[in-house]
Amino acid sequence: MASSCSVVVTAIVVVVLGMAAAASAQLSATFYDSSCPRALSIIRSAVNAAVARETRMGASLLRLHFHDCFVQGCDASVLLADAPNFSGEQGAFPNANSLRGLDVVDTIKSQLEASCRQTVSCADILAVAARDSVVALGGPSYPVLLGRRDGTTAVQMQANIDLPAPTTNLGNLVTTFARRGFNSSEMVVLSGGHTIGAAQCTNFRSRIYGETNIDSAFAAALRGSCPQAGGNANLGALDSTPNAFDNAFFRDLMLGRGLLHSDQQLYAGDGTGTDAFVRNYASNSAQFFSDFAAAMAKVGGLGVLTGSQGQVRLNCSRVN
Ligand code: HEM
Ligand SMILES: *[C@@H]1O[C@H](CO)[C@@H](O)[C@H](O)[C@H]1NC(C)=O
Ligand SMILES: *[C@@H]1O[C@H](CO)[C@@H](O)[C@H](O)[C@H]1NC(C)=O
Ligand SMILES: *[C@@H]1O[C@H](CO)[C@@H](O)[C@H](O)[C@H]1NC(C)=O
Repeated sequence: MASSCSVVVTAIVVVVLGMAAAASAQLSATFYDSSCPRALSIIRSAVNAAVARETRMGASLLRLHFHDCFVQGCDASVLLADAPNFSGEQGAFPNANSLRGLDVVDTIKSQLEASCRQTVSCADILAVAARDSVVALGGPSYPVLLGRRDGTTAVQMQANIDLPAPTTNLGNLVTTFARRGFNSSEMVVLSGGHTIGAAQCTNFRSRIYGETNIDSAFAAALRGSCPQAGGNANLGALDSTPNAFDNAFFRDLMLGRGLLHSDQQLYAGDGTGTDAFVRNYASNSAQFFSDFAAAMAKVGGLGVLTGSQGQVRLNCSRVN
């Protein structure tokens, strides 16, 4: 009696421990060291090649990881095409006609599949490619923990809710990031991602024609390429040095040269709101780099699937 009871107890303990292990499996820096030792170098080479072809691709890959992680966690849900049973995130307002780099991710995935079949998740590809992009453009490196698994579903409306819009005011920017556990200075430092890349006219037109907290020469120059009607996809650089990951974005904000309404919201110029953080990062590049790296590591840990959760997709665009 006693022994059969202890067998049952032991079995329950084993099952419970097993469940706990599966549920709480941790990301790890060495996750692919034995299962796919070349994984990190394959991703880095492909990112460097893509950035060498087109510098802006580094910005596009950074944005993909941010948009993945803020919606349903870093589960590569952003990569899922519309499926028979759901409309994916790519059709959501912040993503439609503006996500870039999906082809680069597919190239990386097929190289990884050729090297180690169904081993490296699409979510991990996005996390590593974002870091390698930042490094390729001169920004800080930071360790990326690995072992994320890919999700099996996506909800288009969730991307509209969870991602900030260029029309967003400071209060709602703070709220959107607070919902994911980021305070106001982390929101500001992450917005520093706009030190690289570009935005389309449709996303800054109302700012350059209608707003008053904008440098007039800056606005006038942009009106040349972003007309009041038409040219919706014409590009404007997000800061004065869009090919370099540097702290110019913050100095530009202090000059009224934020391209997006949402970016200029970070700096009022009267010491209120998040002005102090902008001033700090504008004058202290090392602080920007180290705070950005820390915040990105935190972004990469949002809502991750680990252990036996989710799956490793074979094709990043669809569930296996
Ligand atoms: C703070 C709230 C944010 C808002 C409202 C916002 C909004 C936008 C918008 C509207 C664009 C231009 C899209 C287009 O015109 O096609 C853009 C581009 C970009 N965003 Fe953000 N974003 C935010 C935060 C972030 C964060 C946290 C990161 C990364 C850490 C990031 C990285 C980028 C990059 C790199 C680009 C340029 C992409 C390219 O050139 O392909 N953004 N963002
Ligand atoms: C859609 O189907 C996939 C299987 O192909 C499943 O894993 C997923 O949960 C489904 N999503 C919804 C929203 O029903
Ligand atoms: C936000 O959180 C970071 C990381 O924990 C911390 O270093 C920073 O001081 C916080 N900022 C504010 C405004 O509380
Ligand atoms: C991956 O899946 C997408 C969406 O179903 C499909 O269009 C594409 O052809 C697939 N790619 C490969 C290499 O099979």
